[in-house]
Amino acid sequence: MKSALIIYESRYGTTKDIAKNLSYMIKKVHICKASEFNNNRDYDLVIIGAPVYYDDLDEKIYRYIEDNILWLKTKDIMVFCTCMSLKNKHLYMKKISNMLNKNIIHTKAIGGKIIVNNLNKLDYYRMKNFTKINEMCLSNMDNYDLKEIVEYGEYIKRIMN
Ligand SMILES: Cc1cc2nc3c(=O)[nH]c(=O)nc-3n(C[C@H](O)[C@H](O)[C@H](O)COP(=O)(O)O)c2cc1C
Repeated sequence: MKSALIIYESRYGTTKDIAKNLSYMIKKVHICKASEFNNNRDYDLVIIGAPVYYDDLDEKIYRYIEDNILWLKTKDIMVFCTCMSLKNKHLYMKKISNMLNKNIIHTKAIGGKIIVNNLNKLDYYRMKNFTKINEMCLSNMDNYDLKEIVEYGEYIKRIMN
């Protein structure tokens, strides 16, 4: 059986939650925040979990890839992004696909959450502005679907066997 490293970032906890749920389902797995990576590269599969903010993946994920590009290019890589607009997956995956091209064996967009009261000041004002311009109302959003995450975990398990 292959071993896996789950690398994620998460400002508000949803991507962390998904990464943790996946790690409970997979046997030989290590889970780590990208900004806390400990340099252990002894894995067959790398699963990258990236939240989407303002139409792009979290910049910390790009920084992680740039810092680790040489060894990442020797691995099979799966990428999931957490977002509200699942239909924009191709837009969100464009840059990371260019960086890791042939190594990426699978990409997935997973529904996330926005809890207005949890937003930091900058995100709150940017989101408030965006919704105002688009004549929308800033409110909590929830696309999180545990069943989808369990199915994704099962898919990863099949790949690792
Ligand atoms: C500041 C901010 C900007 C966001 N921008 C987008 C976006 O452009 N497209 C999208 O589909 N979702 C967007 N989302 C939704 C997030 O991807 C979703 O809330 C995700 O769960 C965040 O992950 P986290 O909880 O791990 O931080 C945004 C959320 C926040 C808080």
